[in-house]
Amino acid sequence: MPIPNRIADFLPEMTAWRRDFHTHPELGFEERRTSDIVAEKLAGWGIEVHRGLGRTGLVGVLKGNGGEGGSIGLRADMDALPMPEANGFEYRSQNPGAMHACGHDGHTAMLLGAAKYLAETRNFAGTVHFIFQPAEEGLAGAKAMIEDGLFDRFPCDAVYGIHNDPHMPLGTFRALPGVILAASDTVEIVIRGKGGHGALPHLSVDPLLVGVHVVSGLQSIVSRRTDPLGSAVVSITQFHAGSADNVIPDEAVLRGTVRTLLPEVRDAVEQAISDIATITARAHGAEAVVRYHRRYPPTINHAAEATRAADAAAEISGEAKVIREGLPIMGGEDFSFMLEKRPGAFLFVGQAEAGGKGSNPVHHPTYDFNDNLLPVGAGFFARVVERELARK
Ligand code: NI
Repeated sequence: MPIPNRIADFLPEMTAWRRDFHTHPELGFEERRTSDIVAEKLAGWGIEVHRGLGRTGLVGVLKGNGGEGGSIGLRADMDALPMPEANGFEYRSQNPGAMHACGHDGHTAMLLGAAKYLAETRNFAGTVHFIFQPAEEGLAGAKAMIEDGLFDRFPCDAVYGIHNDPHMPLGTFRALPGVILAASDTVEIVIRGKGGHGALPHLSVDPLLVGVHVVSGLQSIVSRRTDPLGSAVVSITQFHAGSADNVIPDEAVLRGTVRTLLPEVRDAVEQAISDIATITARAHGAEAVVRYHRRYPPTINHAAEATRAADAAAEISGEAKVIREGLPIMGGEDFSFMLEKRPGAFLFVGQAEAGGKGSNPVHHPTYDFNDNLLPVGAGFFARVVERELARK
């Protein structure tokens, strides 16, 4: 069964929604306009709407006409990234400094498309919860919704989410069991030395030189401290110090990101960063304060749900376009919090077309969600519901 005709018919409408969201991107926990539009559309289709979970998040509740049955959560993220857009097309961002550079505009539109179709057809037994979450980009909007009672108020036997992927061909699904995305943590290291005149370094403790040794030393963690098969990434991405050519500053601040797949590797990397920073600083007569923040846990798909999601994807795109085995990637996702609470699966779906359409990478100022993916994503969500909540 390919994409249902009725959903394919929604393409112009879904495209208009998606481009409207793209024109008006909103950062995490500020998705008020987006949330208003989603709520209004769901209510207009006869779906019960509950707002204010995770501040700007909302849940739509729809019962099928097949009577009692199970319950499924389908999730889309609504937030944009704090970055300027470099695209010149008509629907480019009108909010300076905010851009839908990860395709969450498309995720929201495709879940709306599925909601519209399912509200029309209701060809299932039980309940669907449409979960529109805020603040996926670094602010843990999924966690905020859970803390506001998401799964207590809206019980879900399983939850499913999808993310576009510009590196795979349009309509190709990647549905892997087990760990699919890394734990995503941040680290800040403040190195306190002793400032002074740039011409009299022997009277100072230079925090820049200490910082250079620390950054260099941290590179030994992945190469020498952790198991080569237990993947880890340590990227120091910021180094702030000094304000004048001839002044040695008091302090240097380093910040970066840490990605790991296994709990024991996560623990080991955290400990190693602390050891290397504090001991290196001490060796130079300085002091290092390390603040390690565990942000997102690894995203771990439940095997049975990953298989069932892959089967639903195969009905939409054909088995040849479903990848069921492979390695995780070191990105992070806050859908991980939902998968810690409920069984479920998170899938990637390709959006690249011949000629380069849809292939600019996410988080890049020229990225754009490929609208041709909208019916594929909406079709997938609808199939998951009609399969998992099949009438008896
Ligand atoms: Ni994203």
